[in-house]
Amino acid sequence: MFLWGKGSRKCEFSVSNSVTCFERRRSVGIVLISLAENAFRPLTPIEVNDSLPSFPPINPPVRILMGPGPSDIHPSVSAAMAAPTVGHLDPYFLKVMDEVQTMLREVFQTSNKMTMAISGTGSAGMECCVVNLIEPGDRMIACQNGVFGGRMADVAERAGADLLKLERPFGEVFSVEEIATAIEKHKPKVIGIVHAETSTGALQPLEEISKVVHDAGALLLVDCVTSLGGLPVEIDKIGIDAAYSGSQKCLGCPPGLSPVTFGPRALEAMDARTHKVASWYLDIGMLRNYWGADRAYHHTAPINMNYGLHQALRLVLEEGLVARFARHQLHHSALKAGLAAMGISYSVADPNCSLPMLNSVWIPEGVDDVAVRKQLLNEFGIEIGGGLGPMKGKTWRIGLMGEAASKSNVLLFLAALEQCLAAQGKIPEPGAGVASANKRYLET
Ligand SMILES: Cc1ncc(COP(=O)(O)O)c(C=O)c1O
Repeated sequence: MFLWGKGSRKCEFSVSNSVTCFERRRSVGIVLISLAENAFRPLTPIEVNDSLPSFPPINPPVRILMGPGPSDIHPSVSAAMAAPTVGHLDPYFLKVMDEVQTMLREVFQTSNKMTMAISGTGSAGMECCVVNLIEPGDRMIACQNGVFGGRMADVAERAGADLLKLERPFGEVFSVEEIATAIEKHKPKVIGIVHAETSTGALQPLEEISKVVHDAGALLLVDCVTSLGGLPVEIDKIGIDAAYSGSQKCLGCPPGLSPVTFGPRALEAMDARTHKVASWYLDIGMLRNYWGADRAYHHTAPINMNYGLHQALRLVLEEGLVARFARHQLHHSALKAGLAAMGISYSVADPNCSLPMLNSVWIPEGVDDVAVRKQLLNEFGIEIGGGLGPMKGKTWRIGLMGEAASKSNVLLFLAALEQCLAAQGKIPEPGAGVASANKRYLET
């Protein structure tokens, strides 16, 4: 550490903080270290404003992210994000964009040309899809069985849609029949639905729904924020017309980008618009000129976020979609077995519709939600989520997304939870959760 002093205050220049980009992260090993050239630049005197408080450098705790997202990041993704920034029209970056698009098509299982990463989180992708498909007065059905279906409805209303909100209680999914009846009544242009409702842990089957939507000549818009990369999202096979996701869930990248894809029917509807898209930033008509052959400047893409997504997608495809989906399923089933042995049950109404990557469970009677989550975080470094909306205080949401879907996380979590329950006076049978999960692993 170098010290450079002036007056009563000292400026600190710490070699370890400036030079070391990554520290040892759990069992993954050491990732080295890009040397910032100016780390050893001669120090020159600078004026210090003594009235300013001193701000320590960023030094976050290393967590095990087993909540509803963001999820754990592979060190190679963080390393990619620390690579030198180039210009947003640099030939190198244009190649990165092309490759991100190609890999996203693989992960979305689509040949849709209009597939890209919107600059912004999953909510930006949601907004992008809705405002590009909806013109003021267009009819839309938004299916709401959790927080995120409700958000889609809100976005549609703001975009001027003539909206029908189709509702189901939290934790339930929609039947084909009720969607068919709503379509018959409302005759919508767009039906929006959430594939993996992160607020409830419910998986919405889509295949049959897609048929009734298309028989009625409508467009199917799907929220795949939590499912993409952890469950099959078969855009072309199912016939999904537009979909959006987020970088920070099963794709294993930090939050900041929202993959979207638009099929031919969606593009046709956009081409037939008579009003300008309500959002300048999210106008696909302009964005396609930046992500497409023209490369016309639209906005300064977050270069290093795209590096991160590029590496995250490489890892997804290297593992293989089928193997990745099986991995999510395996750790979900081990966790479920462990929780069952501790007397903890899932909150999704139909057990066949439990998401593998988001395990929503009832908090046992008499257990303090916040105290348990605090103890998990403070003693074990494990983050899980609490319930949202009507589930607040009633459920825990345990994420097994991307990198976080691992044997070590499941076994550690079950052992840690046992400690937390014991601290609440709810002594489970010692080791029952871990033993059941282990048994499940040993069967495979
Ligand atoms: C299903 C679903 N849709 C949309 C969003 C919004 O995404 P973001 O928070 O990245 O804006 C989330 C975030 O958790 C989500 O789980």
